[in-house]
Amino acid sequence: MRKKIAITELKTGMYIDELCGSWMDHPFWKTAFKLKDPNDLVSLQHSAIKDVWIDTAKGLDVAPQVPHRVKEGTNSYADQSLKHAATDVSKIHVSVPLELELACAEQIRNEGRHAIMSMFAEVRMGKALPMDEMVILVDKINDSVMRNHSALLSLVKLKNKDDYTYLHSVAVCALMIALGKQMGIEEKQLKLLGLAGLLHDVGKIAMPEAILNKPGRLTDDEFALIKTHPVRGWEILKESPSMNALVQDVCLHHHERVDGAGYPDQLSGPALTLAARMGAICDVYDAITSDRCYKAGWPPAEAIRKMVEWQNGHFDATIFQAFVRTIGIYPVGTLLKLKSGRLAVVTDQSEKNLLKPIVKVFFSIRSNTLIKMELVDLSHTQDTIENIAHADKWGLDVKKITGIV
Ligand SMILES: [Fe+2]
Ligand SMILES: [Fe+2]
Repeated sequence: MRKKIAITELKTGMYIDELCGSWMDHPFWKTAFKLKDPNDLVSLQHSAIKDVWIDTAKGLDVAPQVPHRVKEGTNSYADQSLKHAATDVSKIHVSVPLELELACAEQIRNEGRHAIMSMFAEVRMGKALPMDEMVILVDKINDSVMRNHSALLSLVKLKNKDDYTYLHSVAVCALMIALGKQMGIEEKQLKLLGLAGLLHDVGKIAMPEAILNKPGRLTDDEFALIKTHPVRGWEILKESPSMNALVQDVCLHHHERVDGAGYPDQLSGPALTLAARMGAICDVYDAITSDRCYKAGWPPAEAIRKMVEWQNGHFDATIFQAFVRTIGIYPVGTLLKLKSGRLAVVTDQSEKNLLKPIVKVFFSIRSNTLIKMELVDLSHTQDTIENIAHADKWGLDVKKITGIV
C-alpha cells in the first residue's frame, strides 16, 4: 500500500516509492528504492525533501504507537530489555588495546577541554565560532574513537564541577561518533554527528554562570531560563556561515523526547530526526554519569539501567539498543564483585554476550588482598557477576592498581 509520510518518519527498511520534491532537492539519482543505508537516511532527513511516498508491501510500515512510559523502578522490565540487547551483539571494532589508547585519549581530552573553554570565552565576547578549531578537534576525537572508543569515553566521565560544561561537550561528541559507528554510519556523517555533539550545548554561553553552577535546586524561573539554551544555541549556530543543518538540528532538539514531552518544540517521535534522537541519548547518558554541582554522577552501569527504565517515551528504542551495544551493560571501568569472591574491573565487551564482559581480576575479598592480575572473559568461564561493586567501600584506588579508568 502506498502511504505518504513526513521525511522525519522515514526509517531504514522502508521502501521509498516517490520522493516529493524536485530532483534538485535531494542527492539521489533514483526516487524509488528500498532504504537500507543509515547514511542515506541522514542525507534525506537533512535535504529539502519534506514528504515521501512509501510502499508498505515492499518494505517496513511507519512505527506503531509509542508504548506508555514505564515507571521508574520496574527492574524486571529493565532486566528483560537488557537481556535482549545483550544477546544481539555486533561488537564495535577496536584496533588498539585500551591501555595503549589511554595516553593519547588523555591528551585529546585535555586539548578538548581547553578548546571548548576558549570557544565559550570567545563567543561570549561576541567573536565568531572558531569553526576551524572545532573541526580539527572533531577529527582528533574521531581518530581516538576509531582506535578504541572506550579510552576517551572512560576519561571524559572524569569531570569536576567547573569542567562539566566543557568536558560534557567533548563527551557527547565522542559518544555520538561511537554510537554512529555502531549503527554503521559512514565517516563523513560521523564527523558531522561529532561536531553536533561538540556544539549541542553552545547555547549555555548565553546562560548566567550563577544558574549553570548553582549547587541547589533551580527555581521555576531559573529552570525556564535554562530551557531556552537549545534555541539560544541554534541562534548562535545560524550566525556561522554555512553551518550544517544536522548540527543546528541536534543543538535545537537534543532535549526533545519521542513522546513529545521534551523542549523547546515538543516534537513527538516521528518529527524527530535520527541525529536529534541520537543526541538526546548521548546527552542524558553523559549528564547522569557526571558529577554535578548538585549531585554525584551515577556509575555508568547504573546509568544504563536507569535509562532502560526511562527509555519508552524518552528515547528511540532502536537507537537506545544500539547505544547499549556501544557502551555495554557493564561499561569499561565498571568494578564488579564476582561469585568467586574476587573483585574485577571491566576492560572490554565480550563478542558473545554483553552480560559477560572481559574483566581484569585483581583482588580477593576472602583474603582481603591484591592478587595477581588476570584477564578473564566471563563468557568463557564458570565465574559470574554477583553485583556492581563500589571502590569506596573497599578503599581501593582501582585506576592506580589496574590502569583502567
Ligand atoms: Fe542541553
Ligand atoms: Fe548537554
